[in-house]
Formats: sequence, C-alpha cells, structure tokens
Amino acid sequence: MWSGSKYQRDWLIRWLTGKEPLLYAKGYRWDLSQTSDTHITVTDNQAEAITNYFEKNLIDTRVTVGAFNLNKVTKKDIKDGAFIFKEHACIGCHTIKENGQLVGGPQSTDLADSGNRYNQDWLFRFGINPQDFTPHSGEFLADATEPQLRSVIGYLMTLGVKDFTYDEPWKSQEFSTANVERGTVLYKEYCSQCHGATGKGDGPAASGLSPKPAVHANMPFEKIPMEYLYNVIYYGGRSVGKSPSMPYWGLTIGQQGVADVIAYLKVTFTGGPPIASDAAGSESSGVCPQPRNTKRASGKFRKMTNPLEASQANINAGKKLFHETAMPLACKQCHGEKGDGNGPMGTALNPHPRNFTCDETMKDISDGQMYWIIKNGSPGTGMMAFSGLPDNQIWQLIQYIRTLSQ
Ligand code: HEC
Ligand code: HEC
Ligand code: HEC
Repeated sequence: MWSGSKYQRDWLIRWLTGKEPLLYAKGYRWDLSQTSDTHITVTDNQAEAITNYFEKNLIDTRVTVGAFNLNKVTKKDIKDGAFIFKEHACIGCHTIKENGQLVGGPQSTDLADSGNRYNQDWLFRFGINPQDFTPHSGEFLADATEPQLRSVIGYLMTLGVKDFTYDEPWKSQEFSTANVERGTVLYKEYCSQCHGATGKGDGPAASGLSPKPAVHANMPFEKIPMEYLYNVIYYGGRSVGKSPSMPYWGLTIGQQGVADVIAYLKVTFTGGPPIASDAAGSESSGVCPQPRNTKRASGKFRKMTNPLEASQANINAGKKLFHETAMPLACKQCHGEKGDGNGPMGTALNPHPRNFTCDETMKDISDGQMYWIIKNGSPGTGMMAFSGLPDNQIWQLIQYIRTLSQ
C-alpha cells in the first residue's frame, strides 16, 4: 500500500524472499482467530525488481522525508516511549519482546523487530494520525503530545536493533558553546525564586514547598553525572523520580538555555562541608544515630523479607547498582562511597541521606521498609522513587546495604 515509503529496503527484500517471520501471529485476518498462513515468496531478483517498483511508484505523499531524526533519540526517550507503549494500550494488540519473551496481544502486527522494518518518517506520520492509514489502530495516541509521540516512535525504531547509538544531548553543539554570563541571567530569572539568589534553597517560593528546593550552594556540580543533571533540568523533577515542583525547563529556555545554566551551576557551586561528623570525630561517617522521620510502609510491606539468598553474587550485583548503574542516579551520589550519607549530593539535601553504616539506626529498618522506600521514594525528601528498578535488583541492593553496617 505505502510500501515505497514505509519499509526499509533490506527488510522488504528479506520479506519478499521469505526470510522474515510473519507479521501477524494469527495470520492476516485480524478479526478472526485462525492459524498463521504463509506468505507468497519470490526469488532474490524478483524481490529487487518489486522493491524498485515500490520505491518508484508507491510513495506515500503524506510523509515528510526527514521529519523524524533518528540521531536525536536519547535513552530517556526510549524509557518514556516504552512507558507510553503500555500506557496507551499499544501492547494490547501488538507484541514486543521483553527479556527474550514475546509479550502483548497477538492481534495485530508484531512490533518486536520494528526498528529493522520501518522507515522512521513513515512511522512518525502514521503516529500523527493512525486513522489516516488503518482503522482500529493507534487512536490511543490521539491525546499524546508531540514529544510523547516522538518518544514512542523512537522506541519502536530501536526495537530489535543491536547496539543502537543514542543521542547524548549534553555533548551537543549547544553545550560546547555554553556561556556562563547567559547562564547567570537565566538563573536569576528562572531558578532563584525557589533555589535562592545564592543557591541556598531559600528563594521566596521555597517556604511553601515540600520537599524544599535543593541547596545548590552545597552541590559539587562538577561531580554530578551530566546525564542526570541534564534530565532533571530539561525534563524536570518528575522525570528522575523527584518532586514535580522542580519544573521542566527544556521547552522554556531550550537546549542552549539548559547548557548555559548548567555552565553557571558548575563554575558557581563546588559543594558544601561534609555532613557533621559522628561523636568519635571520624570525618568520613555521617551522624549516628541519625534522626529519622521517614514515613512507615504499611504492615504488608514492612513484613516482607528478602526472597534472595545472601550469596556473594547477589551482594556484588547490589554493589554495582549502588555505585554505578542504578538509574536515574547511582545511590552513592547521595549515600556516599561508604554508605555513610556523605555522597557529593548528600550535603545538599535536608533531611540528609540515610547513613547505612550506622547500626543503631539501621537495625530498626526492616527489609520490606527499605524495599518500599526504594520503589516509591520518601515523600518530602530528596530520596527519589526508583520505580524502574526490577524487584530482584531492589533486593540485591538491600543485601548490599545490609553489609555496610556490619
Ligand atoms: C485495538 C487493537 C490495537 C491497538 C490498541 C493498537 N493497534 Fe496498532 N494496529 C492495529 C491494527 C488492526 C492495525 C492494522 C494492521 C494492518 O493494517 O495490517 C494496526 C497497525 C499498526 C501499525 C502499522 C503496522 C504496519 O506494518 O502496517 C503500527 C506501527 C501500529 N499499529 C502501532 C500502534 C501503536 C504505537 C499503538 C499504541 C498507541 C497501537 N498501534 C495500538 C491494532 C491496534
Ligand atoms: C518552582 C520552584 C523551582 C524552580 C523555579 C526551580 N526549581 Fe530546581 N528544584 C525545585 C525543587 C522543589 C527541587 C527538589 C526536588 C526534590 O528533591 O524532589 C529542585 C531540585 C533541583 C536540582 C537538584 C536535583 C536533585 O537531584 O536534588 C537541580 C539541579 C535544580 N533543581 C536545578 C534548577 C534550575 C537550573 C532551575 C532554573 C532553570 C530550577 N531548578 C528552578 C524547585 C524549583
Ligand atoms: C538524590 C539523592 C539520593 C539518591 C540518588 C538515593 N537516595 Fe536513598 N535516600 C536519600 C535521602 C535524602 C534519604 C532520607 C529520606 C528520609 O529521611 O526519609 C534516603 C533514604 C534511603 C533509605 C532509608 C529508608 C528508611 O526507611 O529510612 C534507603 C533504604 C535508601 N535511601 C536507599 C537508596 C538506594 C538503594 C538508592 C539507589 C538505588 C538510593 N537510596 C539513592 C537520598 C538519595
């Protein structure tokens, strides 16, 4: 139908020569339950000829070539796109692969390999109004915003693709030409009403906010991973599991503005004093016992126990997550290299991050309580929700945390 615009050439040739699996798990009648049927195949030469014919004569004039730039797809887009795919019911009729397994309704086209099949501009045009193409699909995207649509199309274009190269906006042109003076003006205009003129978190709007705006004066911005910093400023607090009171600035000040304000933050704020030392005067460990006003999980959660065995492999996996891989931000950035709450961002937060090295405080916190806080965050504090972490990784983290206070 629109094959000259719709498909990647290599895929089309593979398809026509019978080298691709069927698109519909149940055959080609979506309104019937029937077993799958094979599709007619042709020789390599014939497939080439048919593809050439399609590319010349079956061009979809609604499609704008270059409308979707694959080089601009970020990891964040993929995370959002995957969420939208489920949230907007796409998974109800289209299958995808998760952990090597096909999941979703087998009612329409399988999309597990869509990144190797479609042309991105066609897919984007389809997403703008699926009803222009085919009834019964994608009406569920009608209320998506353009950024949401772009993330779901970006997501589909990565499915099945090995080693997709993601865009890293903080390496873009705008960042190499970032300007501190422009950043200073932006900070005064857009950030100081909450974060305060000197970054102490005491702007006029701060009094009504819970959690309080971060104390930038105590944050060593040079040490904070750029991916995190970019996302929290460009897409707002919610995008990293933090408070939605931290607004999303990308649409207001643009990529250049975000680059400029980050340049300002980096030269202006280099960190605060370490969190007050313990009674023994050891500089590197946080207060112990630590004041703690954390909300209690319900009994159902508090009583949960760690289902994983306390093996070295699980503890090591938890250690890696804690120090390196947990997204949106590794735990050590706040809880510290040693788990004492003295991470680079720890001093900027009030209340301070939990001191996991303090047995007196930790002995009263059950595994289930920790599980609940890691999953949902601690409301009104800097402890964000790690809602994207699979359960087994949360339990591995808890096993590692338990080793810190022994
Ligand atoms: C109620 C079932 C249903 C839901 C929900 C649904 N689709 Fe579809 N989708 C279909 C049907 C039926 C078609 C038509 C297939 C055809 O014409 O071959 C289709 C076609 C498509 C196609 C074109 C496939 C092709 O190769 O022609 C894409 C891409 C697509 N849908 C994406 C989506 C996305 C993204 C969502 C979520 C916003 C979604 N669909 C939700 C049933 C659904
Ligand atoms: C309406 C109030 C408000 C404005 C305006 C605001 N912020 Fe924030 N910001 C917050 C709040 C509240 C938090 C704490 C969020 C949390 O801990 O959940 C925060 C946190 C942050 C953080 C730290 C995130 C972390 O992990 O602790 C950074 C960085 C930041 N803001 C940068 C900025 C910049 C740059 C601007 C201006 C372009 C800005 N903010 C404007 C309210 C605001
Ligand atoms: C942006 C800073 C930050 C990051 C990153 C962070 N935490 Fe926290 N965490 C905090 C703060 C602040 C508290 C204290 C919250 C409170 O007082 O309720 C806390 C508290 C906790 C608690 C104690 C809950 C309780 O009931 O006392 C656990 C467990 C925890 N964090 C685990 C983690 C794990 C695991 C990670 C990484 C996956 C992580 N945190 C990443 C800031 C952070």
